[in-house]
Amino acid sequence: MATLEAPRNGLRKTTEWVYERLGLRSLTYHVPSYANAIPYLLGGITLFGIVILIATGIYLTQFYHPDPADAHASVFYIVNEATLGDFVRSVHFWTANIVMITLLLHLLRVVINGAYRAPREVTWAIGVGLLVVMLGFFFTGTVLKWDQEAFEALGHNEGIGTILGSLGVWFTSEFSRSTSLLARVYAAHTSILPAILTLLVFGHLYLIRFHGIAPRPGDEEAELSQRLQAAEQGETIAQVSHFNVHIRKIVAYGLLLTALAAVLSIFRAASLGPAPTPGIEVTKPAWLFIWIYPFENWLGLKSLLWIPTILVGALLLAPLLDRFRVNSLRRQWVVLGIAVAALAVMVALGIYAAIITPAEHLVD
Ligand code: HEM
Repeated sequence: MATLEAPRNGLRKTTEWVYERLGLRSLTYHVPSYANAIPYLLGGITLFGIVILIATGIYLTQFYHPDPADAHASVFYIVNEATLGDFVRSVHFWTANIVMITLLLHLLRVVINGAYRAPREVTWAIGVGLLVVMLGFFFTGTVLKWDQEAFEALGHNEGIGTILGSLGVWFTSEFSRSTSLLARVYAAHTSILPAILTLLVFGHLYLIRFHGIAPRPGDEEAELSQRLQAAEQGETIAQVSHFNVHIRKIVAYGLLLTALAAVLSIFRAASLGPAPTPGIEVTKPAWLFIWIYPFENWLGLKSLLWIPTILVGALLLAPLLDRFRVNSLRRQWVVLGIAVAALAVMVALGIYAAIITPAEHLVD
């Protein structure tokens, strides 16, 4: 009996020691129990996915060579010779795709919740920044594999930089004669974007902690904070949970998504096309950007600059555009309708883009 209890006591003591030294008790503060439902876990799950992306990305950097003459061969080396290279690269690829989906669902949840309204406008604006950064990661990641799709994507990057003139020179080869544009895209993917992401994530999390999670549509902010304060003072309040339960759920779902990425990697490895051939334009953008492709056909390269700028501007202005009462229930259906309509248009444009013959936009 004693031998059975000793390790348990030992384990409890160790756990207590870790909790005390790291101040983990401060993570047991009260949160509304609806914060433990999947729609409210999506931001945290996205963050978990980002950690997997960092870990797998660090492994890939050990073999990748960001030189236009060697980049494709180094990815070929990762796929065919580096230990577990193909698997790690595929987990990186699939996790990136899954994370973009959880991120967009998180955005949708926030929109339906009307959580962009006062007092969370800055949390929202930082979120828009995070969306832009994550799209930047996805785009630069596509360029790094340096196959035909990557080469043409970089050509578009350079084209937009040229349209922007002196403001866009950083996006072109003109900016530096000592370093290739591909090497600078690599720097963006592995240091510039991660640095911006880290700052924005800290700002986002700080403000979420400061304002607390938004009330559900139809609920009053004041009532919610009263309930949480009463629970904090020791009263037994229904529909109140703890933040450590929230974290545990994020980790559980995060591990599930990682397992999904691993299974997908086993059955369908990330693709790598042949080395690029300059002067031809035969590929289409990745699924996240493909809906914009028809506009390039109709309106030219400039549309790749204006359409995303208008969309990001509209997102930033959302707190000002929403004129509904704070806890209006009707708002969630109107906003959901707009979101579903926008999504349907994007999917229709994406399907159209997928079936049309690739056109040349860069070649004069
Ligand atoms: C890297 C990307 C992002 C991460 C890691 C992230 C993380 C989080 C986390 C952990 C929460 C707490 C609640 C939840 O998970 O739903 C949250 C809330 C929030 N996020 Fe994000 N987020 C990201 C992107 C975005 C984007 C793109 C937007 C909108 C444009 C956004 C706007 C918000 C707002 C307004 C809240 C407060 C919601 C509330 O109080 O109900 N976030 N985010």
